[in-house]
Amino acid sequence: MESLVCVDDFEKEGVNRLGRSAREFLTSGADDALTVKDNVDAYSRILIRPRMLRDVSKRDLSTTILGKKVKIPLGVSPTGLQRITHPDGECGSAKAAEKVGGIMVLSIFATSSYEEVAAAAPNVRRWCQFYMHKDRSITKGIIDRAEKAGFEAMVFTVDCQYVGNRRVSARNPLQFPRHLQFPNATPDAAKEELSIFRLHDIMDHGVTWEAVSWLKSASKMPLILKGIQTADDAIRAVELGVDAIIVSNHGGRQIDTCPATIDILPSIVRAVGERAEVYVDGGIRRGTDIFKALALGAKMVFVGRPIWYGLAVDGAKGATKVLEILRDELDMTMALAGVADIKSITSSSVCRKEDLSKL
Ligand SMILES: Cc1cc2nc3c(=O)[nH]c(=O)nc-3n(C[C@H](O)[C@H](O)[C@H](O)COP(=O)(O)O)c2cc1C
Repeated sequence: MESLVCVDDFEKEGVNRLGRSAREFLTSGADDALTVKDNVDAYSRILIRPRMLRDVSKRDLSTTILGKKVKIPLGVSPTGLQRITHPDGECGSAKAAEKVGGIMVLSIFATSSYEEVAAAAPNVRRWCQFYMHKDRSITKGIIDRAEKAGFEAMVFTVDCQYVGNRRVSARNPLQFPRHLQFPNATPDAAKEELSIFRLHDIMDHGVTWEAVSWLKSASKMPLILKGIQTADDAIRAVELGVDAIIVSNHGGRQIDTCPATIDILPSIVRAVGERAEVYVDGGIRRGTDIFKALALGAKMVFVGRPIWYGLAVDGAKGATKVLEILRDELDMTMALAGVADIKSITSSSVCRKEDLSKL
């Protein structure tokens, strides 16, 4: 693993180690996967404007998220089925987030239970992600169980009433290893053999904004909406009292040709103002990407696929190394850009090429 020095190295190595089904599940996107690519490419269209002769001899990467400290504004996006990559699965990625002092978001389609993840990484801040079940009492049961296991916030993913059109799945349906289960998804999940597609069948395809109000009444945990892509939806969310928004297009897996998340982030940050925190995921592969997202107003960023690359290479150790690389790259970017702490990364720290002549 010593020879792997960036997330791209982990991608090349990790993806090769996976079996065909897992590899296709991980790398696929909707339709032509143009948004999968653009999420990554969009970061290259943003430039960093380094400032000189500032004291950067000590850097502080910590910040406050929903009123509590994190050592770094970098977390693990919820991705189901992590034990497909390595037996460590979600426990491994939670340990990685714990090691760097970020946040772990556990998917409703996790292959490790809330309780297992809490035991594996007791000191990491943990959020539970879910979709809305047709039977709301099941959703309520899931949230309450997660809270009991020390999860501190609800992440309701709003962009996945249906699974996007992934051609690889149509060509080769995902072969789900029989020994793996979804222990959090339904009360009976641990007892049954379930396929991810049948699980999607029990989700509520007709869910509306009413569910946001319902969730706020169903639990006292902070509520985060994941998958917001427009300022109008962000305004609606804050008017209903959500605590935070994750600007996300599900890593380009739902609708193809929707914009790269970093391109829509500024409009959403402007619309939300101080009323809620705004985070972003999609395409983050380097410390400079994190720096750019923070400069454009994100309070925190999350990574999905990079965690899988790390898990595939060496379980918890690999996932930890991936997050450490991102942390060290962010730290060095800050040093070279002349900012010593997170709040000093501002919109003037970056610009777009076409705006250079207006500076
Ligand atoms: C293999 C895989 C599984 C995913 N599963 C979920 C999930 O269960 N719930 C969810 O909200 N998002 C899911 N996502 C989307 C991620 O949370 C996240 O938005 C996306 O991966 C971010 O983009 P990135 O992979 O470029 O970092 C999944 C993404 C991938 C790649």
